[in-house]
Amino acid sequence: MTDFQNLVIEPLKPTHDRTVFQCGVEGLDRYLKKQAKQDIKRRISRVFVATKPDNPKVVIGYCTLSTLSIELNQLPEKIARKLPKHPVPAALIGRLAISNAAQGQGVGKLLLADAIKRTLAVSDQIAIYTMVVDAINDNAIGFCEQFGFTRLSDDSPRLFLPLKSIHR
Ligand SMILES: CC(C)(COP(=O)(O)OP(=O)(O)OC[C@H]1O[C@@H](n2cnc3c(N)ncnc32)[C@H](O)[C@@H]1OP(=O)(O)O)[C@@H](O)C(=O)NCCC(=O)NCCS
Repeated sequence: MTDFQNLVIEPLKPTHDRTVFQCGVEGLDRYLKKQAKQDIKRRISRVFVATKPDNPKVVIGYCTLSTLSIELNQLPEKIARKLPKHPVPAALIGRLAISNAAQGQGVGKLLLADAIKRTLAVSDQIAIYTMVVDAINDNAIGFCEQFGFTRLSDDSPRLFLPLKSIHR
């Protein structure tokens, strides 16, 4: 079995081959091929990719990170009531995708953990209340719930995980 544990996770760069990536969700494949580079250049998103050390061009998975603010009325009442009455800062994993061949082998978990680690580091300098994930489908919701993310509301594809609940 191929080993997907010892991966390199780094910002997307020109040497990465973006053209052959396939994860089963066309929009996520297209993003890497057509949009990611431009978003990075314009500072709209940061894009992190996972590769194998012995095959550094082939993208095994990627995720995007950016910031957003969450209106208090989007958060569950129980949490909102303890916060100041203005929007709270958040870090958004807008996209997370693992190539078909590598799915179900811990790569998504590694990329998610890496994104959380990066966010925690940034949050020492710029306050971030919560991590947010935009889940593209039920599969993604199930995956995120494994790590303690909960939906903002019952019908929302957006999940959150307050940073204070993450133990470094
Ligand atoms: C969803 C996706 C990102 C998960 O990544 P992955 O590498 O396949 O998942 P992992 O192997 O890291 O799984 C980590 C854990 O989550 C669990 N898990 C994975 N998918 C799950 C799901 N749909 N529901 C519940 N749990 C799930 C695994 O069982 C594993 O648990 P364990 O650590 O107890 O064994 C990946 O399958 C993918 O890219 N799918 C297609 C695109 C997609 O749906 N992207 C949406 C993400 S926003």
